[in-house]
Amino acid sequence: NAGQGGCPVSDPEAMARAFDAFEGPYQLDPAEALRWSRDQLPVFYSPKLGYWVVTRYDDIKAVFRDNILFSPRNVLEKITPATPEAMEILKSYDYAMNRTMVNEDEPAHMERRRALLDHFLPENLEQQQDMVRRLTRAKMDEFIDAGRVDLVEAMLYEVPLLVALHFLGVPEDEIATLKTFSVAHSVNTWGKPSDEKQIEVAHDVGRFWQYAGEVIEKMRAQPEGTGWMHHTIRMNEKIPEVVTDSYVHSMMMAIIVAAHETTSLASANMFKTLLSHRGAWDDICADPSLIPNAVEECLRYAGSIVAWRRQATAPTELNGVALPEGAKLLIVQASGNQDERHFEDGDTFDIYRDNAVDHLTFGYGAHQCMGKNIGRMEMRIFLEEMTRRLPHLRLAEQEFTYMPNTSFRGPDALWVEWDPALNPERESP
Ligand code: HEM
Repeated sequence: NAGQGGCPVSDPEAMARAFDAFEGPYQLDPAEALRWSRDQLPVFYSPKLGYWVVTRYDDIKAVFRDNILFSPRNVLEKITPATPEAMEILKSYDYAMNRTMVNEDEPAHMERRRALLDHFLPENLEQQQDMVRRLTRAKMDEFIDAGRVDLVEAMLYEVPLLVALHFLGVPEDEIATLKTFSVAHSVNTWGKPSDEKQIEVAHDVGRFWQYAGEVIEKMRAQPEGTGWMHHTIRMNEKIPEVVTDSYVHSMMMAIIVAAHETTSLASANMFKTLLSHRGAWDDICADPSLIPNAVEECLRYAGSIVAWRRQATAPTELNGVALPEGAKLLIVQASGNQDERHFEDGDTFDIYRDNAVDHLTFGYGAHQCMGKNIGRMEMRIFLEEMTRRLPHLRLAEQEFTYMPNTSFRGPDALWVEWDPALNPERESP
């Protein structure tokens, strides 16, 4: 069965052997690259990666649902093992990244998640909205008359970073340093750095680890501080057996990336997708009430987390395929999100789709993203402000580039253009 619109791949076993998560079709378009798998071999072993790749919606959801059989313990493991030299460098920084939330097993995970949930509740997010809108407007003021910008550089990188730091209560330090650190952490965890690059990355990751430790010390000295990491530090003092020291240090490093890169990349994907589907963009300019579902459809069609990991804790079977104990799984949400078995015409972008919200970009089950409503809120506000103030925005001619890795996806730059003389606020200030 070829599925929709394609001829059957004659040798799916050969496709499985050839599958490369770091270059070629998967890096160009992960959902399209795995169409053959969804249709013919939905769970396959990739010898190049050493992982079992899972590509259908129902199977991915089943894996997410059972976090005992499919442990998240390998979620932050280096997907490309460190060279002995890189390992030595990390050791010299006392690097000890360990369990956070996203890679913690039960029962410790749920106990910790419950102790730290309050800040994420919708009623506590209300107050963040004004801050997000204020930051968005201020950034737009800077470029509204420019006529051409890289939207990533001009807004989509920095606003989510500032929102994240504010939500966490982490001091706004040098943004450029944080950027180097985040990129290093992502390459280190989900990328395939060359042996040479491993050395550079190991130094940055080591410095990031030490920086995280220093930030915690600074924050401990402010017992009245606000924000989620301040709360975490207080809980560490109150219930150290649940919110452990190792957790606080590891989380301080991981959360900056979890809260920030995810949202920046998702927002860049969103603008790229909407501006290249002009009808959809024009529709939301005319009717902003379409924005919340458009955000979900963008997260489905072009999410920023395209694949996540799990590890089998016992021998088991998935869609008829036997998996040994210890099997490492790459569950490709980008593929599940376009699976026509769940989403009609899954490869079509449609802001009116009624089940867009079923996407797996935030994961599913016990570990589902705690910050999903913050991410959504930011994306919604970006669209509200941009469609109102720059409805005549166009995508500029450009070649898009992406950092090669298994999981985090979004263009490095997003050039857009418009005629400032036609800005609505010029015509009716
Ligand atoms: C977990 C994606 C924004 C905090 C996760 C997971 C994914 C994800 C895929 C793992 C889910 C699973 O294993 O089932 C995203 C995307 C975002 C985003 C696509 C933006 C568009 C945020 C933000 C924050 C955040 C803004 C914090 C302010 C977390 C935390 C977890 C998590 C704490 C761990 C939850 C747990 O293991 O119990 N996220 N995230 N995320 N995310 Fe997000």
